[in-house]
Amino acid sequence: MANLWSGRFACEPDGNLFEFGRSLPFDRRLIEDDIRGSLAWVEAVAAAGAVSSADAVTLSDGLRGLLEDVRRDPSSVVGPDEDVHAFVERKLVERVGDAGGRLHTGRSRNEQVSVDLRLYLMRRIPFLQAGLAGLVGTLVGQARGAGDTPMPAYTHLRRAQPVLVAHFFLAHVAALRRDYEYFDVARRAADALPLGSGAVAGTSYPLDVAALASRLGFSRVAANSIDASSDRDFVSIFLHACALAMVHLSRLAEDLIVFTAEEFRFFELSDEVATGSSLMPQKKNPDPLELIRGKSGRVIGRHAGWLASMKGLPSGYNKDLQEDKEAVFDTETTLGASLSAMRAVVSGLALDAARARRWASGLLLATDVAEYLVARGMAFRQAHETVGAMVRLLIADGRDFESLSPEEWTSFSPLFGADVRRVVTPEAAVAARQTPQSTNPASVAAALADASAWLDEAAGQGGADRALSEYA
Ligand code: ARG
Repeated sequence: MANLWSGRFACEPDGNLFEFGRSLPFDRRLIEDDIRGSLAWVEAVAAAGAVSSADAVTLSDGLRGLLEDVRRDPSSVVGPDEDVHAFVERKLVERVGDAGGRLHTGRSRNEQVSVDLRLYLMRRIPFLQAGLAGLVGTLVGQARGAGDTPMPAYTHLRRAQPVLVAHFFLAHVAALRRDYEYFDVARRAADALPLGSGAVAGTSYPLDVAALASRLGFSRVAANSIDASSDRDFVSIFLHACALAMVHLSRLAEDLIVFTAEEFRFFELSDEVATGSSLMPQKKNPDPLELIRGKSGRVIGRHAGWLASMKGLPSGYNKDLQEDKEAVFDTETTLGASLSAMRAVVSGLALDAARARRWASGLLLATDVAEYLVARGMAFRQAHETVGAMVRLLIADGRDFESLSPEEWTSFSPLFGADVRRVVTPEAAVAARQTPQSTNPASVAAALADASAWLDEAAGQGGADRALSEYA
């Protein structure tokens, strides 16, 4: 018997349809959470008098033995069972006999599957956060290594203003640190015990749900049994956090694809992370970065697809909800792998400081020239016009500000003194920015210190766990 509901039916289910509805091939990843939930459940129903204490001991011993077995050999979590819950019950009956049939007393798989996935995410999210923190550490390392080297910053992918290379790396750090916080939000969304909700109306035994919650590490109990049986907000929020993190990785990937291209070449990719062409001998392609960018579409699709699956569901459990797991597992695996890949690429980047500085010079200093005039009393709008006209002439002649003689400067405006030449360097431009979020070297040094302090704190929250792929 491979299913938990055969009594009502006169014949075996259609083989193909049973296979179509089966989730064991993927929900096996929840095995440890399922057993943990069942161990706590046995205690709770025994305390409520629904299962004898002798049976409770038998069930707990059997569950613990099974947990050891599957930990020792994850590949043993296979069989004809409909899902991981049926697998556990079958294995338990094999171990402890008929008492195994008492495990499900008062419980529905509807609440069980929710508790499993909540437990899973609560313990897995910290590993994605550790992956984010690892990448932040690598970016901070690049930022430190770049020292005071300037590079151009872009808007509309046109050279805009000089910034420190460190400031560029710290921009991506800022986005990834937000992701880290969004995962805290996702973890909090998962942190509510659905057990006690039964199939939809609640449990028929006087369970101490608060004790059950704290036994399992939940800080709250779900408020309403109908809502609890189909609430997957924690899945949606998790998928959103992952999709956003992938969007951030994709944008970093795009920056690095552009900045390592021959025409830019502010950075060189390490040979270890690049790929060649089967035809063109000169090619050095950034495949890992392109894959990260490509996979962001897949994760966004999982998120969008999941929301589409949810939107038409009537209240209470519906089998559509089973789609949550492949979305979560695929997304988690993809983000985890993308974070490691990005870390490898970033750690191997070699900065071409001379080239980055060269492209941070020239006409992108126009704002600084205009601000020079403003400092000498000209209205900003007029200064913008004046410098715009200069730029037009310089472009026509293929020149830049640095090539202008003192006489040429004054021909554009008598306000230009000899000291204007000191303004038109990338170093002067970054030093001229004065706000804490700016690329001023002192601000960037403070941002680096702040990032390091954040990393120390994040490192304190890490830990080791079984590899993601073991039950995948
Ligand atoms: N495999 C199911 C899921 O993932 C478990 C819950 C099944 N509940 C039910 N009433 N069929 O959602």
